[in-house]
Amino acid sequence: MIMAVLFHCEWEEGEQILQDLSAQIPDMDIRIWPDVGDPTEIEFAIVWKLPHGELAKCPNLRAILSPGAGVDHLFEDLDLPDDVPIGRLIDPLMADRMAEYTASLTLWSHRRFDDYAVLQSRKVWQQVAQKDAKDRGVGILGLGALGLASARCLRPFGFALSGWSRTAKSEPGVTCYHGDDTLAQFLGGAEVLICLLPLTSATRGILNAATFGQMPAGAYLINCARGALVVEDDLLAALDSGQLSGAALDVFDIEPLPDDNPLWTHPKVRITPHVSSLTAAETAAPMLAAQILQVQRGEPLDGRVDPGAEY
Ligand code: NAP
Ligand code: GLV
Repeated sequence: MIMAVLFHCEWEEGEQILQDLSAQIPDMDIRIWPDVGDPTEIEFAIVWKLPHGELAKCPNLRAILSPGAGVDHLFEDLDLPDDVPIGRLIDPLMADRMAEYTASLTLWSHRRFDDYAVLQSRKVWQQVAQKDAKDRGVGILGLGALGLASARCLRPFGFALSGWSRTAKSEPGVTCYHGDDTLAQFLGGAEVLICLLPLTSATRGILNAATFGQMPAGAYLINCARGALVVEDDLLAALDSGQLSGAALDVFDIEPLPDDNPLWTHPKVRITPHVSSLTAAETAAPMLAAQILQVQRGEPLDGRVDPGAEY
């Protein structure tokens, strides 16, 4: 019987992932969507933002694999088969990439470079009050693969680090909170808030007027997770009122960010085009191939997602 892999990934890196994957699993017939062929032959799907309903047409799927860390693009498909294991990438290289980004922006905000940029634009030679790192509360929403890497990268600077997760965590140098009941207390100490939560039914819109109001006045937001975690109108209002001093945004509800979105030109906002931690073919292809082989051998699937929690 023919065993086929369905592949769909429209990133620039997608072509390289495909080439490397073909070399890693040469015996498998890789079919690039929409050239699915006979859907009954598809046993594995490696897909990113596949049009909804397509996976449901493949009755013999044995695993669905995300070529990224996030799986929200799968759970948004209302026809997602509910009895097929789902795997995602947990890649140390991606964690390093994310940690570089979040640490850079944390330091940027901590050392008040936005304020100095404004002063420079007016040719004003003025020293702005500076806190020491030990007095700066940095909170990380989500203490998973990427959140923990960011915490570990920031720890040597001596920030007052805290983190929030769904289940209890323990990490040296990080005050750990978990569960909805502790969110307000966690946010109360987050002068810099790094968002690395997955987008799920429980987290959608979690950053809104109420939660911004629980943060210290003048806090700084770094969102590298998903745009829909943030209520955009509430973010704009919090920036305009000064409740937030600024925001570094790598992800948006609609990507690419539409030309007419006010965030593009907001003086307190820094924008990057979903680049904080891109998938790397060199590490992703071997991981995806290994996940397929694990399922074929009946072994536990690395990066298996809990469908009940949606991440
Ligand atoms: P992960 O390992 O699954 O970690 C997720 C963390 O969020 C965990 O600590 C989890 O708690 C916590 N969490 C989930 N739901 C929660 C809830 N309802 N309440 C409190 N905490 C909750 O995920 P990851 O690999 O770190 O990735 C995080 C997200 O980053 C991805 O889902 C993706 O959206 C985004 N991402 C963005 C980029 C980019 O380039 N912008 C790149 C890669 C990933 P537990 O520890 O208790 O499970
Ligand atoms: C990117 O956003 C990912 O989830 O890997």
